[in-house]
Amino acid sequence: MARKFFVGGNFKMNGTRESIKAIVKNLNEAQLDSNVEVVIAPPSLYLLLASESLNKTGVSVSAQNVYDKPDGAYTGEISVSQLKDSGIHWTILGHSERRTILNETDEVVASKTKVAVDGGVSVIWCCGESLDEREAGTTVAVVEKQLAALAAKVSGADWEKIVIAYEPIWAIGTGKVATTQQAQEVHEAIRGWLKANVSDKVAEETRILYGGSVNAKNCKELAKEKDIDGFLVGGASLKPEFVDIINSNL
Ligand code: G3P
Repeated sequence: MARKFFVGGNFKMNGTRESIKAIVKNLNEAQLDSNVEVVIAPPSLYLLLASESLNKTGVSVSAQNVYDKPDGAYTGEISVSQLKDSGIHWTILGHSERRTILNETDEVVASKTKVAVDGGVSVIWCCGESLDEREAGTTVAVVEKQLAALAAKVSGADWEKIVIAYEPIWAIGTGKVATTQQAQEVHEAIRGWLKANVSDKVAEETRILYGGSVNAKNCKELAKEKDIDGFLVGGASLKPEFVDIINSNL
């Protein structure tokens, strides 16, 4: 089964009403590859603005995070049911900035993922190693530990609502994109882990995205790799070149 190419735009804590409306307008008017699934993830404050402004087949809006408890006394948090109530059917979870800055553990990320998929929200689940971990040769071990925590919580059809994003921390926001070989090696290891520990079906069908300094210049070479099924894009998703990245698999 061919995996549908997937491109996510993670705006992080960037944007204003005007800039987000401009990004959405650009996407509404762009010629996009119809074989690509696209999500854009603005800051929570602008989810409804983006969703109400977007008028493009194949493009939807994603949150950047969600809490793993039902509505209640959790000041500052957003629940899965509130995302669904707002027509938001995707969320990013486990981004390295939340794991490192906000101390989200593998287990917390896995718990959020399970609650999200149970509530009907699909998840871009992020993983990846630090520069020290790569230089120590522990990249695959780090990613496999993150995967094991996820697989301890989700099972069966849950995986149909999960897209994996491999984002080497040392490539995020640095301009130091992973080489095609570096990225393919880890993507292949992730798919191999899924095959050995979950199922052939999940291994074959799960989209594995690369994220970390992707731009219009490097995306086409990366997209040619057999286990790279798309991208999770940060800085470049705020720029018109995001359209080129969406169309990188043409
Ligand atoms: O989630 C995507 C992000 O971490 C990648 O950021 O700016 O390196 O594309 P950037």
